[in-house]
Amino acid sequence: MSSVGHHGLGYSLLYPYQGFWFTDPVLESIKDFQQNLKALDSDLILASQPKSGTTWMKALAFAIANRTRYPIFSSSHPLLTTSPHDLVPFADFKHFHKEHSLLDYTNTSSQDLPSRLIATHLPYPLLPESVKDGATKCKIVYICRNPRDTFVSVWHFMNKIGDNKKSGTPLSIEDAFEYFCDGVSDFGPYWDHVLGYWKESLASPHKVLFVKYEDLMNEPETQVKKLAEFLGYGFSVEEESRGVIKEIISLCSFQHLKNLDANKQEQSGDNFLAHNKDFFRKGEVGDWKNYLTPTMVERLDSLTKEKLQGSGLAF
Ligand code: A3P
Repeated sequence: MSSVGHHGLGYSLLYPYQGFWFTDPVLESIKDFQQNLKALDSDLILASQPKSGTTWMKALAFAIANRTRYPIFSSSHPLLTTSPHDLVPFADFKHFHKEHSLLDYTNTSSQDLPSRLIATHLPYPLLPESVKDGATKCKIVYICRNPRDTFVSVWHFMNKIGDNKKSGTPLSIEDAFEYFCDGVSDFGPYWDHVLGYWKESLASPHKVLFVKYEDLMNEPETQVKKLAEFLGYGFSVEEESRGVIKEIISLCSFQHLKNLDANKQEQSGDNFLAHNKDFFRKGEVGDWKNYLTPTMVERLDSLTKEKLQGSGLAF
């Protein structure tokens, strides 16, 4: 990876900063987040790489952590009328969007919500010091997705943004693939991002929970229970028998969220260049089969094997 200069990525330019790649517009927000967030013990940080299931995790964590204030079975639950991205804002895009109380870092109250939920695509080493500091009891959930599906989702999304901006020609899958394999992806390299959180989840399991998109898809109840316990909002036996876990899963499911008016909108309050609907494409495990050639799969798999070697993490 080159340490200077920038790369054109169809819709935007990526710049290296502290060992990772970022679009120029987010750098200001990132520095603000790094310098000004004073994490509270009750803070919940939702971390991910783009296209790894962030929207899903935002919805799940919001539903879980706020279920006393917003009962899951209520017909006026905020997730029915508001995009998960507006309920759980990205620190990384703060400077582009309307004011969001949870991103006012000088305000240390939780706005009468039980916990502040803050989302970020920042790699672990770049998180604000107060988040990483062992003295702060805030928690970090990292959602990760296999590299094949992540790449395919990234490629679709980049071209969507290009369309939204009405700029440039679409990026071919071959060119996008070269960039991705070279580590040049938004908030990437992919493997470095994943490894940072993976290692931290092993070293401090009470502080960092590592969740795989595929596991969430395959065994939602087990994963959602684990997630709730980790966040400090575990389910009671009574809740379990009332079907609260199942209801959360169905409230936050791809098919349900995708078809809500709030998530079909062209405009979004809190997302840079992306429309709410752009966050819902197919929502499946294994869509890579429809896009990657055997040669691409071989290259991506061998790169992944090489990069993750010895870490204990595999896809
Ligand atoms: P696909 O492009 O493969 O469909 P992110 O939220 O990190 O931007 O990731 C977006 C990806 O997650 C997209 O993947 C999107 O369709 C999928 N997704 C969005 N909401 C989801 C949900 N509730 N359940 C499962 N997948 C979801």
